[in-house]
Amino acid sequence: MADNDSRAGARYADEQILTYVNRVHASHDAALAQAFAVPEGIPQIQVGPSEGRLLYLLMKLAGAKKIVEVGTLVGYSAIHMARALPAGGRLWSIEFDPKHAEVARKNIAAAGLADRASVVVGAGRDMLPTLNDQGPFDAVFIDADKQNYDHYGRWAVDHLRPGGLVLGDNAYLFGKLMEDSDTGRAMRGFHELVAAACESVCLPTPDGLVVGIKK
Ligand code: SAH
Ligand code: DHB
Ligand code: MG
Repeated sequence: MADNDSRAGARYADEQILTYVNRVHASHDAALAQAFAVPEGIPQIQVGPSEGRLLYLLMKLAGAKKIVEVGTLVGYSAIHMARALPAGGRLWSIEFDPKHAEVARKNIAAAGLADRASVVVGAGRDMLPTLNDQGPFDAVFIDADKQNYDHYGRWAVDHLRPGGLVLGDNAYLFGKLMEDSDTGRAMRGFHELVAAACESVCLPTPDGLVVGIKK
């Protein structure tokens, strides 16, 4: 079968293929299903099942013991990552909206992870400094307000151990990465500071996922 397109970024996945691979590799148990089903009034903007699974696998590969997330929503990605922690590991997830945080805490407790995963309520820019003393961290996953990605990325590289992971969802900015806007500039700033401080790549997930290993 000839393929002159995939190196240039062409995608072959269709709905049927994605349903199949998600079922085979990334199916939900009860706790993940609960955190994937968002209550009325809260947006359905979690990472997809394959990205959640990838976060889990990356945390396992990195042997992550201390993880920070910015942007909890209702805990779907947090549950994936917290499940990769060894005994004694911790995850702190920062969430601005108290309604989201309340649902996330319930979902995390239902997943049996309340002993290792905590939700910190407040804005990322205000709450990240309250975690400084817990570092250095093994991984930071950024998935909150896009206009602050450069700020969050800077905090991450300053508080990760060498070899630690920085991850950023929505790295294509919903297709608007190259726009001349505040969010476009912040997201490009994030890409460029991660590339400078890390060995890095932007994985071609539906909306791009930056993965960097701190030098
Ligand atoms: N990581 C989650 C999805 C996060 S959606 C998952 O994959 O399951 C983005 C979240 O970031 C929303 O819940 C939103 O309320 C939160 N958010 C928005 N601005 C924020 C800020 N300044 N600080 C922290 N969280 C913020
Ligand atoms: C939105 C945020 C996200 O992190 C995402 O993955 C998708 C959508 C949003 O704010 O609309
Ligand atoms: Mg996202």
